Amino acid sequence: MKPLRVGIAGLGTVGAGVVKLLAQQAELITARAGRPITVTAVSARDRNRDRGVSLDGLIWHDDPLALAWDENVDVVVELIGGSDGPAKALAEKALAAGRPLVTANKALLALHGTALAQAAEDASLPLAYEAAVAGGIPVIKVLREGLAANRVSRVAGILNGTCNYILTIMREEKRDFGDVLADAQRLGYAEADPSFDIDGVDAAHKLAILAGLAFGQKIDFSSLHVEGIRRISALDIVFAQELGYRIKLLGIAERTEAGISLRVHPAMVPVSKPIATVDGVFNAVLLEGDFSGPVFLQGRGAGEGPTASAVVADLIDIARGNQIPVWGMAQSKLAEARVVPMAHL
Ligand code: HSE
Repeated sequence: MKPLRVGIAGLGTVGAGVVKLLAQQAELITARAGRPITVTAVSARDRNRDRGVSLDGLIWHDDPLALAWDENVDVVVELIGGSDGPAKALAEKALAAGRPLVTANKALLALHGTALAQAAEDASLPLAYEAAVAGGIPVIKVLREGLAANRVSRVAGILNGTCNYILTIMREEKRDFGDVLADAQRLGYAEADPSFDIDGVDAAHKLAILAGLAFGQKIDFSSLHVEGIRRISALDIVFAQELGYRIKLLGIAERTEAGISLRVHPAMVPVSKPIATVDGVFNAVLLEGDFSGPVFLQGRGAGEGPTASAVVADLIDIARGNQIPVWGMAQSKLAEARVVPMAHL
């Protein structure tokens, strides 16, 4: 059995989690993938940091781009993060060099997903990004496969674990925003720049990816209405609770007669709604298909284990030789979405 040889760029919380998961579940993964999945090469900024995983025997590249051409690598996993710079260069070069690409990088896909999907399609290579949206919830697979026969009219949900964790702990423990944000950073939920979480940008990246896939249209990221949770006070949360509501940061994408509406903002959700009870680092996604009806998914939206689980699911697909359709993102198949400004709703 020829192993699938993996090169990983970025050994932060998720990268180290992927190395750990592949080692701990090696037997099960080999059985399910039909062959071993083996990390052969890595690249990260700090060679000496203790990551709690053994990197013995792996090829170390100081330059992540070297993974694209490393002859010991069959598939490149991009976990560097950031919409441009080395992450984008590696993604482009890996596909150009004929390597399938797995990425957890929502910023990269929200801004450059269409072009990358086109490059993948042109080269007949898989571009897999389950880990980019909602951590351990397999929502990309559900949209691509489970709902493939549907026209989806709405995608809505809690798409940022850090914000949901902060809002939950502020409510339950009556603690201050800044104090709880520090906890979320310690737990490895928050982005390198946590303003992406608390200002709603991370949720907006994920919403743009889901909307592109669900509606089969090219989404101009700059057209999204985005508001975060910085201005939510502990008192707002208490008042909402007294009135029978929970404050949640929601991302909502809808197909309307006028076009597609895309927005991220805090919302008062009645406690009787299932989404109001999704707490902590959990995410939730509601999908509305015309034949399926509503599909509600929830699970851990951030953190080492859930995100590594999604990355490895993509690797198993690639090891099996499964077709991973890029429809919904490749430019050749997309019309530009007409995005409806919020004021016109
Ligand atoms: N910072 C992100 C979140 C990580 O809190 O949801 C997962 O994408």
